[in-house]
Amino acid sequence: MIVHPSLSLQGRRALVTGAGRGLGRAIAVGYAQAGASVVMCARREGLLKETAAQARTFGGEVVPIVADVTEEADVQRLAEAAGPVDILVNNAGTYRSGDWQTVPLSDWDEIIRLNLYAPFRLCQVFAPGMVERRWGRIINVASVYGSMGPKWQLYPESWGPSSYFASKHGIHGITHYLSSRLAPHGVTINSLSPGPIMTSDQRVGLDAAGEERLRKAEGLARSEIQMARLGDEDDYVGPAIFLASPGSRYITGQDLKVDGGWSAW
Ligand SMILES: NC(=O)c1ccc[n+]([C@@H]2O[C@H](COP(=O)([O-])OP(=O)(O)OC[C@H]3O[C@@H](n4cnc5c(N)ncnc54)[C@H](OP(=O)(O)O)[C@@H]3O)[C@@H](O)[C@H]2O)c1
Repeated sequence: MIVHPSLSLQGRRALVTGAGRGLGRAIAVGYAQAGASVVMCARREGLLKETAAQARTFGGEVVPIVADVTEEADVQRLAEAAGPVDILVNNAGTYRSGDWQTVPLSDWDEIIRLNLYAPFRLCQVFAPGMVERRWGRIINVASVYGSMGPKWQLYPESWGPSSYFASKHGIHGITHYLSSRLAPHGVTINSLSPGPIMTSDQRVGLDAAGEERLRKAEGLARSEIQMARLGDEDDYVGPAIFLASPGSRYITGQDLKVDGGWSAW
């Protein structure tokens, strides 16, 4: 296969967090196919092993590490096992449904710690090596909900914890701040903002209520999203490769919305 050199990840080493399933798995496998050696982490070993097996089919080095990115001891272990990383994808993230007035503050803390604190901590750990080598790419997976609130007509019963929105807005703050610190050293940092997605993992084993929610979401997608469908994990592989590639060297501090045109009406 002939790939333009500006899009090849040959000879680069990437770390993808939350690679056990969903977007993280798709990006990790996509990077392996694009020629990178890939370090990947998640907490559940079985799922991570499945991702690693898929990535290994492309022949490069694949290093799965069971680690919780919110735990400092695990982050240290990850740093030692990963070695010099050229591309960091802060993908691990979560949300929980709940009303903003009654959400337990322990939920707030947990979501902020995973979605906001951990990406910043991993930048602290991995960016200095990129600076030293004068080449690096950091991609923070955010969300379209990092630049707006939930439309009440779509979520009449109140959707999503406020901490999710706060964490994803915060990702843009980190991205903007660090872009100014890292740009002089050849290191870029950008965010990738998914719109509404239904990953293949989210489609597995839905009960009747889940099926009903999916049908409703697909109906809404047809009227709300310009591409008239929900996204899936494969929609993120190309954009993630581009932001990690040599060809994106003059793009930093930016947010790439991959939302089927949802935010562009
Ligand atoms: N799916 C969507 O609709 C959507 C929309 C907008 C933005 N996003 C963002 O896209 C990213 C990926 O979403 P997704 O839907 O692919 O998520 P997902 O299916 O829930 O997968 C999350 C991955 O992160 C891992 N993870 C969770 N907590 C972790 C921790 N503390 N340390 C290390 N790994 C951890 C999970 O594995 P373990 O549980 O085994 O650790 C799993 O592999 C997230 O940042 C999310 O906010 C998703």
